[in-house]
Amino acid sequence: MKAIILRDKKAALQLSDLPIPHISADEVLVKIHAAAFNRRDYYIQQGQYPGIKFPLVLGSDGAGIVVEIGENVPKTWLNQAVIINPSHQWGENERVQAKDFQILGLPEHGTFAEYVKVSHKYLASKPTHLSFEQAAAIPLAGLTAYRALFSRANLQAGENVLITGVGGGAAMFALQFALAKGASVYVTSSSAEKIEKAVALGAKGGVNYKDADWHKQLQALAGGFDVIIDSAGGEGFSLLTDIANPGGRIAIFGGTRGLIPNISPQKIFWKQLSILGSTMGSEADFSEMIAFVVEHKIQPVVDSVFALEMAQTGIEKMGKSGQVGKIVLRV
Ligand SMILES: NC(=O)c1ccc[n+]([C@@H]2O[C@H](COP(=O)([O-])OP(=O)(O)OC[C@H]3O[C@@H](n4cnc5c(N)ncnc54)[C@H](OP(=O)(O)O)[C@@H]3O)[C@@H](O)[C@H]2O)c1
Repeated sequence: MKAIILRDKKAALQLSDLPIPHISADEVLVKIHAAAFNRRDYYIQQGQYPGIKFPLVLGSDGAGIVVEIGENVPKTWLNQAVIINPSHQWGENERVQAKDFQILGLPEHGTFAEYVKVSHKYLASKPTHLSFEQAAAIPLAGLTAYRALFSRANLQAGENVLITGVGGGAAMFALQFALAKGASVYVTSSSAEKIEKAVALGAKGGVNYKDADWHKQLQALAGGFDVIIDSAGGEGFSLLTDIANPGGRIAIFGGTRGLIPNISPQKIFWKQLSILGSTMGSEADFSEMIAFVVEHKIQPVVDSVFALEMAQTGIEKMGKSGQVGKIVLRV
């Protein structure tokens, strides 16, 4: 089969030939129709991720058709159009993933290939309102956004929400999911175009986080925020505790801007704030997320679609953060 292989740290992604994977009794073989990039794929290529092994087929996101099933897999999956849950071995505890938790696409070969094998418990039916390209845009980012917003921050209709860095893949899903829930949503971004896109989708407004007074601009726009979804961390994070409403929940799932300095304990305890770490999601989160996408007919924002052999061009675009929404590979 054709697959995109990463052979070394910082090496270009290369189209190569690999044997089609052999499945075990609990697994299925999915013929991938579309896959999508996450920041994780870029970090792995740059060597900035723990436990990297080479050669590796990258890719956590994929949608396709089940073409072969193991003997323990319900027959109904055969020939079904599916989305793959990349969050593997979460375990029994809904609060936190198990020690042997893994994400598809390292250490197991991922979705940037004609075929991938996964356990049948990581399959969901592809929503019928979505194309394969749109469906492939959902799994990792959609799951991360869903758990942060709902399982962790317990977002309610009518609340004020801030999504920082809305150009991010998971942030864009957080925007769409929060709007579908009936929240009033505001965003930050480094790009006027991305703020405009967010407003076109239904956000009430947005500000540029590169402006020195971005937090004051947000306060003037919205008052304060009941829920904040952040994946930047860094120096700006402490200002999020200023603009959170009393009783506010701040969920964080990324650290694009590094360590967080200067947080005031008084602000956290007096305002009864909750700072909630979140990562990917459980199998229950994944099926609830897909049900939410179906119920609200969510259309993922796809920035661009490249042919599989153009994977290197796609990951370079991801590296420059020039995208609005997801970068997809057609396989
Ligand atoms: N824990 C998990 O399960 C999980 C899952 C997914 C992602 N992540 C992490 O979350 C982060 C984003 O991932 P992604 O895949 O969504 O990546 P991405 O699409 O590349 O998004 C990165 C975004 O970060 C935003 N950003 C940069 N500096 C910022 C700042 N000072 N304040 C606010 N936003 C800022 C930018 O937004 P603008 O373009 O709008 O300026 C940029 O588009 C990464 O660190 C990733 O590792 C974690």
